[in-house]
Amino acid sequence: LDNGLALTPPMGWLTWQRFRCITDCEKYPNECISETLIKRTADRMVDEGFLEAGYNYVGIDDCWLEKERDAQGHLVPDRKRFPNGMKAIADYLHDRGFKFALYQDYGTKTCMGYPGVLGHEARDIQSFVNWDVDYIKLDGCYVDKAKMDEGYPYFGKLLNDSGRPIVYSCSWPAYQDNPNYASIAKHCNLWRNWDDIQDSWSSLSTIMTWFGDHQDEFTKYAGPGRWNDPDMLLIGNFGLSLDQAKVQMAVWSILAAPLLMSVDLDTIRPEFKEVLLNRDIIDIDQDSFGRQGSRVWNKSKCEIWRRKLSDGSYALAFVNRRDDGAPYSIKVSFDSMKIPNQAYEVIDLYKEEEERSFGPEGEFETRVNPSGVKFYKFIPKKSNEINRTT
Ligand code: DGJ
Repeated sequence: LDNGLALTPPMGWLTWQRFRCITDCEKYPNECISETLIKRTADRMVDEGFLEAGYNYVGIDDCWLEKERDAQGHLVPDRKRFPNGMKAIADYLHDRGFKFALYQDYGTKTCMGYPGVLGHEARDIQSFVNWDVDYIKLDGCYVDKAKMDEGYPYFGKLLNDSGRPIVYSCSWPAYQDNPNYASIAKHCNLWRNWDDIQDSWSSLSTIMTWFGDHQDEFTKYAGPGRWNDPDMLLIGNFGLSLDQAKVQMAVWSILAAPLLMSVDLDTIRPEFKEVLLNRDIIDIDQDSFGRQGSRVWNKSKCEIWRRKLSDGSYALAFVNRRDDGAPYSIKVSFDSMKIPNQAYEVIDLYKEEEERSFGPEGEFETRVNPSGVKFYKFIPKKSNEINRTT
């Protein structure tokens, strides 16, 4: 969507993956979807360097509403959990340099059964504007999916007409069998292509496989202002090992995916924080070219994901999906990596290996942990440097 927003993939934090629809604040005071959760998260994001690293959207997913609209038909945030309303949340976030993301649903109800926008679009957008919302994720439960091809653009037009710059995240293709990506990219800043991510390696693997198998349908639509969204980062929660977390961060950055964490920042372990804060990898995700990378090689349960970057270098992720014991050796030609035959400086983005030189001939070899990744930046050597070394 050409509205001047999301020129690089949005980064931030969203409630859903970790905090789901926890609404009982008496039983779960630290986890319930509430003003307290948003404020403590924002504070942590400032203190721990997440905001500075680029994670600047803080968002509330489903389960923030009262079950009924008010007598005038307005949406009402849950009175207990958001006692000061949504404008107070926006103010708190804006004062600290964040932007405010909020969830709604295009249907009659949200997926968890709270009131949806269908039939109330203009009124609800007015509420979002009054609350200073900067980003709307519009889900697609409780509506005929055939209506979405008109409904999502219609809602987007109203958002645009509101005069407030609001990033528009659509779940539209996730609900359809043959999405019209040309239209989706025209009307949305980002879109959830497929199934919800769950907190496990098997869920992450399934999503990677689906994105690899279907990449030709949607990769070309990504670019500044329009991004494919493979869903939230699981990093730091219960289901992924450190190696698996590194896989998600690497592959998401190749995919130019939104980097939306969903994790308890009060309890996250430092090694996972380090993965989320890896500046070199964030830079790859946020590369100004905005060209989405893809899976270029897939053999013996190992994969290579490759992205061309604006400075002429390549990001290459070697993923081992095998579950046999020892680290697995992958040895491949230029052809398999889909990069030009030339000499490169090769930098390990997780800093596990020394920098090395590779090319202009030969095969590249690396050893990758089971359900792990080696993630490199291949920087072409200038021809005079090649002359010096040959
Ligand atoms: C389905 C979406 O895909 C999820 O990301 C989340 O927003 C839930 N709905 C909330 O009900």
